[in-house]
Amino acid sequence: MIPPLPGLPAFRKELKGKIQEYAMPYRELMAYYKCAIMEVETKFKVLSEELSLEYDRNPIETIKTRLKSVDSITDKLMNRNLTLTVENIENHIFDVAGIRVICGFPSDIYTLSDTFLNQDDITLIERKDYIRNPKPNGYRSLHLIVETPIFLHDEKRLMKVEVQFRTISMDWWASLEHKIRYKKDVEVPEEIALELFQCAEVAAALDKRMEQIQKTVAKRTPETSSHDGEAPGDI
Ligand code: GTP
Ligand code: MG
Repeated sequence: MIPPLPGLPAFRKELKGKIQEYAMPYRELMAYYKCAIMEVETKFKVLSEELSLEYDRNPIETIKTRLKSVDSITDKLMNRNLTLTVENIENHIFDVAGIRVICGFPSDIYTLSDTFLNQDDITLIERKDYIRNPKPNGYRSLHLIVETPIFLHDEKRLMKVEVQFRTISMDWWASLEHKIRYKKDVEVPEEIALELFQCAEVAAALDKRMEQIQKTVAKRTPETSSHDGEAPGDI
């Protein structure tokens, strides 16, 4: 057995200290992004609670959140020839904090995003409407980059958050398409790409039909009669 080298524990301690020193600002930044996710998620939960009381139905089906992994952050910075520093993350990557709000109908997305953007502590940085202008592959979703304040013990900090609004059908299409293709190194054959595109078109047409049905039913139903406080899928 090789005896431990003299001075090794001290060296390890120093090395660990250095790593922690370097990692600290990164951990701190990630904690701020987590707080920003909590702030924005709470806003949608509040809207969900309020809207389900006020109207016969809740436009929000599901809220999903995610913090971008170190791996994806590093990849994104490297693709832009940037080094991994907290400054570069904050100044160049706007989707570290991500929220996905899944709605019932396409029109809910616009009502909800307007309501959200009208809140006086939310600042819109960027808006990409892939519903009115779908991507060539058929992808649909409304993307917002917003700035939201987080309140720390000694300061208020503005953090960027990406919010994606989708209907249920836009979401299942995107999730499955992502599994099949998105950002994979291999290109999918043209006929598969066309089929995926056609599926997106069918899904969008169904969204329109369902919305039309909902509107027709809403017109015929007296406002107070149908609300029973149950969420879709409740048993
Ligand atoms: P990245 O943020 O690096 O992806 O580039 P970008 O900011 O130009 O992209 P964009 O804002 O258009 O889209 C960002 C996110 O939307 C992605 O991380 C995905 O979650 C989703 N997205 C965009 N395009 C597609 C697509 O074609 N298919 C699927 N499944 N998701 C997509
Ligand atoms: Mg993006």
